Amino acid sequence: MSIRLPFFKRKSSTETKQQYKLKNVPNHVAIIMDGNGRWAKKRGLPRIDGHKEGMDAVQNTVRAATDHGIKILTLFAFSTENWKRPKLEVDYLMRLPKEYLQTYLPELIEKNVRVETIGDFDALPQHTKEAVLDAKERTKDNDGLLLNFAINYGSRHEIVEALKQIVHDVNENKIDVDHINDNILEDYLYTKGLVDPDLLIRTSGEKRLSNFLLWQCAYSEFWFTDVLWPDFNKEVFIQALLDYQNRVRRYGGIK
Ligand code: FPP
Repeated sequence: MSIRLPFFKRKSSTETKQQYKLKNVPNHVAIIMDGNGRWAKKRGLPRIDGHKEGMDAVQNTVRAATDHGIKILTLFAFSTENWKRPKLEVDYLMRLPKEYLQTYLPELIEKNVRVETIGDFDALPQHTKEAVLDAKERTKDNDGLLLNFAINYGSRHEIVEALKQIVHDVNENKIDVDHINDNILEDYLYTKGLVDPDLLIRTSGEKRLSNFLLWQCAYSEFWFTDVLWPDFNKEVFIQALLDYQNRVRRYGGIK
């Protein structure tokens, strides 16, 4: 695909890594990777083939994120609602983290990427947890891109659990009700310590949040594309980053 890149300075054609220099890179990009099933259906393939192909799109996105100096990439890999899918598909989705990490962990380590997760981790199958914990452990000292997989993640569940914990801590006199504010609540979310997403991308033409980072996306810029997730690549990602260059973020104020 050829696209015009008016906001980039073109560098040496021999340079393979970072071909273009963005002037305003989002620190935190969150992505709802949607459309794997439709991608497979269009080709007469089982849905799980779409998820498998989506794995490579994940890695291409990680490469683009590291090339452009993005600090945090949060990917919606499995929602608290995805358990409703047929068992065969759920089982496959639960095996994907291991398959992805078996293939790509060496490259993640080489690229100084740190792997983390948000979501209800304890409820995952043992084999999924083991693969992810191993990756977390082996990348914990890396200080490049934070690759943050949202697995068994649901925003409402996250907020309800945070509230329960806050009530508990109030009852234990650890916090005072009058001191509860945005910052305190954020300390009880899975995303504690992370800056909010600057840019939220959703593929496949759907335009909704689907219970993803509801609190954290209060002031995020949204970018939607009809591209199905398995077809998402560096060029499409750059289109999103380019569009972000022109956004004026006012946070409710005036410019
Ligand atoms: C949504 O598409 C996608 C998912 C529920 C799974 C996301 C998983 C991947 C992108 C694979 C990579 C994952 C890891 C952990 C490396 P959909 O199935 O809802 O698509 P549809 O709306 O077209 O049916």
